[in-house]
Amino acid sequence: MTMDLNWYFYSDTNARADELEALLMKKSHTLKSFQLLEDLFHQLERMPHTILFLKANTAYNVYDLCQEISVKFPSTYLIIIVPENMENTKKAMRVGASNMLTYSSDSEEVNEVIIQAQTFVKQRADQKGSAHPHLQKKNSRVMSVCSSKGGVGKTTLSVNLANAFVKDGKSVVILDANFQFGDVSMYVDLKPKRSVYEWIKEGVERERYGIENYLTHHSSGVAILATPPRPEFFEIITEEHLELAVSELRKSYDVILIDTPTYISEIHLKSLMVCDDILLVTTGDLPVLRNTKLYLDMLESLQLNEKVKIILNRDSKHRVIEAKRMESILQEPVYVSLPDQGVHIATTINEGLPLVMKNGRNAFSKGMFILAHQLIPVSSEVEKKPKRFALSR
Ligand SMILES: Nc1ncnc2c1ncn2[C@@H]1O[C@H](COP(=O)(O)OP(=O)(O)OP(=O)(O)O)[C@@H](O)[C@H]1O
Ligand SMILES: [Mg+2]
Repeated sequence: MTMDLNWYFYSDTNARADELEALLMKKSHTLKSFQLLEDLFHQLERMPHTILFLKANTAYNVYDLCQEISVKFPSTYLIIIVPENMENTKKAMRVGASNMLTYSSDSEEVNEVIIQAQTFVKQRADQKGSAHPHLQKKNSRVMSVCSSKGGVGKTTLSVNLANAFVKDGKSVVILDANFQFGDVSMYVDLKPKRSVYEWIKEGVERERYGIENYLTHHSSGVAILATPPRPEFFEIITEEHLELAVSELRKSYDVILIDTPTYISEIHLKSLMVCDDILLVTTGDLPVLRNTKLYLDMLESLQLNEKVKIILNRDSKHRVIEAKRMESILQEPVYVSLPDQGVHIATTINEGLPLVMKNGRNAFSKGMFILAHQLIPVSSEVEKKPKRFALSR
């Protein structure tokens, strides 16, 4: 069954969207343009499954308008189109935009955004259709992000992959299992008010398990179960708590990512047991590979090796050890390889904005989308590469 999507374009001058219209036409969608805000509002009120392109204009502030629409019509998928000098991803996210294009976006970029919008709106409609949203979600996927050595990129992978899944319309939560020195919230510039600690103290110990109130929400849509406010509080947390947290989170999230601590503990082992996929992050350096192999041996002895997927991070053309040799050392294929981005990644951590959000076309971000789609395939669409395209000004 195909679902009808409503594609709208708003700009209060007679700016045209011919190329956008043509691109949508190729996918058999029609674009309806509005010049009067009241006409647009009237339509948004009545129609479900709407995707709205909102073009910047001198007559109004596109960010303010976006915020107004996202408050009035929260189910609308909003794409703002701004000149380069007004490009501000953080601000766009804060005012409720789901995506952003610039005046010089080429057809490939626009196509990507169209596909993302389509996937998102369809996915959300499917979720709404399910009769008992509070029952255990049967299709939740739990993924543990692990490594044998510290600093190889587990947290970087967790926050970026979470955002890649969000772009596919999935509900995503990151459980930061580095209960002493977790830094997931820091990577996305959040200061959590509550954490796993309060959940255990106020909830679990009084047999009230509801976890939702203890999560912190990022403007991208990703939820986080943060670590205790002080490292010494970790002592009260047991592997049973971890298991309980995962089963609570399964009730309302499609994807649960567990960012695990490097050292092997009961908590680490429990996260390996309860997950569906083990994303084992490694680099191509020999000492790391050696330890990754040891880690794989451990998984084998625990009969958990079926779950493992090797993520090769910080890959580059100048690798010392050839890919084939790596795979023969590990005796396991590389599932996905992610390029080294130099200081780029560190900059995004400083800004608190994952690279996938900041720049979806960067090679690392693309690798992240490939990983997300390999893990959970989205309905595929055959894409023809259209010629270069610019939105009309
Ligand atoms: N692909 C990459 N390219 C460049 N730098 C990267 C890449 N991946 C991670 N880094 C950098 O490596 C450092 C460590 O990354 P990260 O914190 O994600 O590792 P980790 O495995 O979570 O560490 P820990 O074991 O301490 O939790 C960060 O400074 C990050 O910027
Ligand atoms: Mg980390």
